[in-house]
Amino acid sequence: MSKFPENFFWGGATSSMQIEGAYNIDGKGLSSSDCKTAGSFEKRRQLTYIDKDGNPGAINSNLGGSLPPGAKLAVVDGYFYPSHEAIDFYHTYKEDIKLFAEMGFKMFRLSISWPRIYPNGDEEEPNAKGIAFYKDVFRELHKYNIEPLVTIFHGDVPLYLENTFGGWTNRKMIDYFMKFAKTCLEEFKGMVKYWLPFNEMNDYLLMLDMFGNISNKETHQTSFQMIHNMLVCNARTVKLAHEIDPENKVGSMICGIPNYPSTCDPNDILENRYRWEKGIFYTGDAQVFGEYPVFAKRLWDTYDVHLETQPDDFTDLKQGTVDFYTFSYYMSNLVTTHEIKDIVQGNFANGARNPYLNYSEWGWSYDPKGLRYYLEVMYDRYKLPMIITENGLGAKDTLVDGKVHDDYRISYLKDHLHECKVAIEHGVKLIGYTMWGCIDLVSASTGEMSKRYGFIYVDRDDQGQGSNKRYKKDSFYWYQHVIDTDGEEL
Ligand code: BG6
Repeated sequence: MSKFPENFFWGGATSSMQIEGAYNIDGKGLSSSDCKTAGSFEKRRQLTYIDKDGNPGAINSNLGGSLPPGAKLAVVDGYFYPSHEAIDFYHTYKEDIKLFAEMGFKMFRLSISWPRIYPNGDEEEPNAKGIAFYKDVFRELHKYNIEPLVTIFHGDVPLYLENTFGGWTNRKMIDYFMKFAKTCLEEFKGMVKYWLPFNEMNDYLLMLDMFGNISNKETHQTSFQMIHNMLVCNARTVKLAHEIDPENKVGSMICGIPNYPSTCDPNDILENRYRWEKGIFYTGDAQVFGEYPVFAKRLWDTYDVHLETQPDDFTDLKQGTVDFYTFSYYMSNLVTTHEIKDIVQGNFANGARNPYLNYSEWGWSYDPKGLRYYLEVMYDRYKLPMIITENGLGAKDTLVDGKVHDDYRISYLKDHLHECKVAIEHGVKLIGYTMWGCIDLVSASTGEMSKRYGFIYVDRDDQGQGSNKRYKKDSFYWYQHVIDTDGEEL
C-alpha cells in the first residue's frame, strides 16, 4: 500500500481545558481542572481546596488523594493554574484554525467545556455565550472543510457538581451530564457529525494498577462505579445522538496502552491477559457490544465491587452501542508478577522497564510496533472503523530565530504512521488519525507547557509567561506534505 485510504481524516486533537483559557469569561463557571496547579515530571500537580474552617490546602491530583472531610475544591491565592489562560484558544481560534487548514487538516478534535455551557452544571438554561463560542469555532472549521470531532467530556466537571455530589461516583451526575449532552447534540446539530461522549474513561481502571500504593478496595469500588455511571451516559448519548440526527456517528475513546508479559512464566501471561481485560477491554466491550463482558464478574468479585445499578442501565447499554472505535496511543507497558528490578517511574507509566525500548524524558516508551499491535488486536475484536484520536511525542523544543527543528517529533510520527500503514495492509479499517496536541498545549499530567506536542509552537512557558505567538515548527511542513501526498511520502 502506498497511500492511506481515500477520504482519510488527517488532523489533530486537543481538549478544552488544555487550550481555551478564558476560564472565567463570558459566563463560564469553574471546573475541577481549574483547581489543578502546574507540576512537572518530579512534582505532581496539586488540587487545591478550602477546608471546612476556611483554610487553603492542596492534595496530590492523582487518584487516591482524598480531600479532608468537609473541604471543597477551590481556586486559592498563591498558586499558578495553567488552564486559566492555557494558550488562549478562546481568542485565537481563527488564527489557529487557519494554520490547521494550511497543513491540510480534514478533521479537528476538540472538547466542549461543560462549565462553559452549564456554569454550575444544574442551571435550567445553558449559557448562550458558551454555545455561541463553539458555533463560531465550528463555522470556522467548516469554512476550510475541516470536520469537527467533538469530545463531550474530557475531564472538566463543573466545580459545583464536583463539590456538591463528589463527581462521577454519584448517580446524580448521570442526569446532569445527559442534560449537557442533549444541549450539545441539539445546539450543534448539522455542524457536528462525529461525537465522542467520553475521553478515556478506562483511565480510572488503568491508574489502579499504575499507582499500586493507593489501589485498595475503596478505590476499586469508586472507579468501577464511576465507570458504570459513565457507561450509562455513553449509551444514552449514543441513542440520543441517533434520534436527534441520524447522520450522527458516535465513537468510544479508550486510552490504548498495550501490555506485554515480561517473561514466559504462565503467571505473567495470565496477569498480562487480566490487565488487558481490566484496563482496556472492560470499557471498550461494554461500549461496543452493549453489555459487560463475561470476565466482568470475575473482576467485581476479585475486588469486592458492588455496583449501584438500575434495570434501565442495562437496556440502554444494549441499545446505545458505538458506531466507531477510537483510542489514544502513546506507549506500551510491561507486566510482571516478579520483583521489578528496573522500574520506569514515568507519569502515567509505572512499571517494569522494557529492555527493548527507549523511553522519553517523562518515562513513556517509544514503541511504534505497539500501535500496530493494538490496531490489529482491536480491529479483530470489534470490526468497527477506527480512528487514532491521540498519538504524539511530548518533548522539549527550542525556538531559535522563529524556527523549531523538531526532527525527533518527525521521526516519532513517521515511525507510528508507518505502522498504521502496515496495519491497514493487514486489513484494519483505519479511517483517521488526529495527532495529539497539534498546537502546543498544557500537559494534562504535569501541567507543563514545556512538554510540547505541537506542529505549531506557542510562545508560553511553564509559568504562563511569553508572547503567546504561534510559530510553525519543521514538523508543520512535514505533516503538510504527508497530508498532501495522502501518506504516500512519510
Ligand atoms: C491523554 C489525554 O491521555 O494523554 C490528554 O487524553 C493528554 O488530555 C494526553 O494531554 C497526553 O498526556 P500529557 O500528560 O503529556 O499531556
